[in-house]
Amino acid sequence: MLKASKTESPATSGFSIKPYLENQGSRFENHLNFMNPQLPKVLKTLGFDKTYVRGEGAHLWDAEGNRYLDFLSGYGVFNFGRYHPVMVETMKEMLEIKDANLVQFDCPHLLGELAKALIQKVPYCDRVYFCSTGAESVETAIKFAKAHTQRDRILYLDHAFHGLTMGALSVNGNAEFRNGFGKFSSDGDKIPFDNISALENELKKKDVAAFIFEPVQGKGVYIHRPGFLKEAEVLCRKYGTLTVADEIQSGMGRTGKFLASEYENIEPDMVLISKSLSGGLVPTAAVIAKDKIFKSVYSKMDRCVVHSSSFGKNSLSAAMGLASLWVLDNENMLEKANWVGEQIRSKIMALKPKYEMLGEVRARGCMIGIEFQAPKSMQLKMGWSLLHTLSKDLFPQLIIVPLMKDFRILTQTSGHHQDIVKLLPPLVTSQEDIDYFVSSFEKVLQSAHKFPGGVWDLGKTLAKAAMSDNS
Ligand SMILES: Cc1ncc(COP(=O)(O)O)c(C=O)c1O
Repeated sequence: MLKASKTESPATSGFSIKPYLENQGSRFENHLNFMNPQLPKVLKTLGFDKTYVRGEGAHLWDAEGNRYLDFLSGYGVFNFGRYHPVMVETMKEMLEIKDANLVQFDCPHLLGELAKALIQKVPYCDRVYFCSTGAESVETAIKFAKAHTQRDRILYLDHAFHGLTMGALSVNGNAEFRNGFGKFSSDGDKIPFDNISALENELKKKDVAAFIFEPVQGKGVYIHRPGFLKEAEVLCRKYGTLTVADEIQSGMGRTGKFLASEYENIEPDMVLISKSLSGGLVPTAAVIAKDKIFKSVYSKMDRCVVHSSSFGKNSLSAAMGLASLWVLDNENMLEKANWVGEQIRSKIMALKPKYEMLGEVRARGCMIGIEFQAPKSMQLKMGWSLLHTLSKDLFPQLIIVPLMKDFRILTQTSGHHQDIVKLLPPLVTSQEDIDYFVSSFEKVLQSAHKFPGGVWDLGKTLAKAAMSDNS
């Protein structure tokens, strides 16, 4: 029998990543020359072209040492803040241990432990499939649903976002993402948001494998009307269709519960999580599903690897997953999400009487959408309609650009053709940061309520940049 021997650490190779990090002069140029060139162009136009060199908790720092408040959280991968100490220690531990990772012909222990822990959190499911990204988990759910039901159609909601690989794109409810990528047989499978009779009309045909939905829709932060998802679940069961809750963004405590589905009292057949499952440090995703589905897919030994991927059984991701669940449970992350979200929501709502363009503020925990509405006063009405004639995507940029430029706060617009600014603050955001955000946001609102001038001048610049872009 071979004995395990301790290998000597290799002589230092002379490689260090530090010189790369210390000299970032070619950061944007490299992207222009060797990657998607549109990204640096867009960032420059918006003034988002910063040289970030460090991140910790709810903050980022640039090369000049300026601090930024990060209300984007890497699209929700950093629910617990950047470089959470428990994640960092776990990562270090794993690298020092040199765990026998990715043997492939193996049943890695940490994966099993994480699966068991996830089933404890989602007790109506029985088994877990691990993969690397949110979109990959969506692809998996689509395949699993087809295999289990032997049906082909997947119903999805208007404005749904489930990722951008081909299967995920086929259930994307935004034409802007689908256009240019060929024909989709799923064009007729889109259901208007919260429309239960439209859903039933399709389910009745008994050819629908699954209905996929986000319990809180990310594009616009739309919360379903109470009861819709429960009614949908009942109908899906009636017609033999599986339900798939895409909790890739709304899960892992972001909405103040482990899963946003818990607000709806539903028990989906498959639950998808990703993003903060690894604390943001390594890619990971999980499809948590009922046993019957696994039985259909992995029906006999020669179908053992019928669905799998090279990085799926990654111990490092599993270790980070176990650490994330520990942080979630031991550092009161659900309470924090509710507290941060409610503070921001109520403080922004309190500004409503003073600012006529401030509309509804929707929040479920730390998923927050601030909607703007058409003004009634003459001057502002002129600015609003002029800008919306130029482009239906511009208005929220007039808010996020000054938030960055004048206050160093990173936020995002919420989707195409929506007057919505979206906030995904880390669940660990402090009172001081919340107050700073709200006072900065109010200053931007003040500027937006003066037409002409203020942020409206920026509208002209952005519209010009968009129109002159023919490259
Ligand atoms: C709800 C939802 N589903 C799926 C995805 C796709 O995840 P990924 O970008 O990891 O492929 C995202 C990403 O933002 C998401 O928000």
